[in-house]
Amino acid sequence: MNEPLLFPPDFTFGVATAAYQVEGGIENDWSDWERAGKCKDPHARCGNSVEHWERFFDDVPLITRLGATAYRLSIEWARVEPERGRWEDEAWAGYRARLEALVKAGIRPVVTLLHFTHPKWFHVETPWHEPSSLVAWERFAKKCAELLQGLDVAVTTLNEPNVLLLGGYLGAAMPPGIADGRKAFAAMANMVRAHVIARQAILERCGPTEIGIAQNMLLFAPSRRWHPLDQALSRLADGNYNHAFLEALHTGVLRIQMPGFTAGKAVIDAAAKSTEFTGFNYYTRAHLRFSGKAPYVQFEFLDKLTRGLTDIGWEWYPEGFGQILRQLKRYDRPVWITENGLDDRTGLRRPQYLYEHWKELLLARADGVNVTSYLHWSLMDNFEWLEAWGPKFGLYRVDRKTMERQWTPACDYFREVATTRRLTAPPGTEQKPAA
Ligand code: FCB
Repeated sequence: MNEPLLFPPDFTFGVATAAYQVEGGIENDWSDWERAGKCKDPHARCGNSVEHWERFFDDVPLITRLGATAYRLSIEWARVEPERGRWEDEAWAGYRARLEALVKAGIRPVVTLLHFTHPKWFHVETPWHEPSSLVAWERFAKKCAELLQGLDVAVTTLNEPNVLLLGGYLGAAMPPGIADGRKAFAAMANMVRAHVIARQAILERCGPTEIGIAQNMLLFAPSRRWHPLDQALSRLADGNYNHAFLEALHTGVLRIQMPGFTAGKAVIDAAAKSTEFTGFNYYTRAHLRFSGKAPYVQFEFLDKLTRGLTDIGWEWYPEGFGQILRQLKRYDRPVWITENGLDDRTGLRRPQYLYEHWKELLLARADGVNVTSYLHWSLMDNFEWLEAWGPKFGLYRVDRKTMERQWTPACDYFREVATTRRLTAPPGTEQKPAA
């Protein structure tokens, strides 16, 4: 490709993190999960993480040095309400100071209210499948609205509710550790309501604000292309996992349909047209295989195109990014890439990954998908949930002994593209053939 592809002048380049994964010193449902030995390495602890809470003001220039003008970060509910009903005023003030520092540095905060983690009391006293969850949530959301008042920010109310529900309510793989379809659907409907509640609280306090969710979406494909059950599974996964929540925020109707397994419908009128943008987190393609015995679905990451999986074992598949982007036209909102990235332990593959995903993004734009923002996961290496400290998703490498943040070749490349808006291939790499 000789012609450079161009990003429009008002396109936003940014980076993303989540509180628990970077801040350090947090006690919540995940720290309990670790202590119960439920991460891949039962001894792994997030602990002081990469001390982003303490080092925040020194980390701000890391963002500006990338040429980034947006930073997606989250509020840790457990930090501000460690005991139910007791606010930690100092923590609220701490968040306010951090958000103000970003704005002052020319970085627009994209604030996530819930990025997987909860205060310890939440699942015990007011779990998502109970109506009481919304009472607790509304109090928190109103305080968040107060926190954001007067600042130019955007909001993702919920991060990947589908991952939280699949992992926490169907697979018992993350807190609250439940595997119960009925509770999962009740929790899902309440999370749709939670989005609406947070949106109302923010609009009331802050006036017009861009509000959405960050939705994880995978390109699903049948493991055996010819197999009707694998094909059916891929279609069901696409509908239920990728689109059900977004549909609910578009139409006001939440519908889960797994013929032969489960079905659910909830009408939540206030959810109709309840977003200003469609937030999309993209990482990979997943192949699905019908296994014949419970739990029937086998989930596989296959290196179909022999490009080499990313280090966490996910398929390198930028084409899926473009394909899903085109599907998002149906929601009739600007699309923000709220996460995209890879686990790259040598730090040598990220520029090429960025290049191939950005190219897909620009091709989708040329096809009429209104993508206006790209936030890379992640600003720096961090604690990767069940995988703990193995993966390295950061543009900046973090040495956890010294806590030094180290510039990588991907930082140069990110900066080059973000500041020139011209997409050219990174130096020293060839585009991989589409096999
Ligand atoms: C997403 C999560 C984010 C991070 C990336 C790798 O699903 O939202 O916190 O763990 O995966």
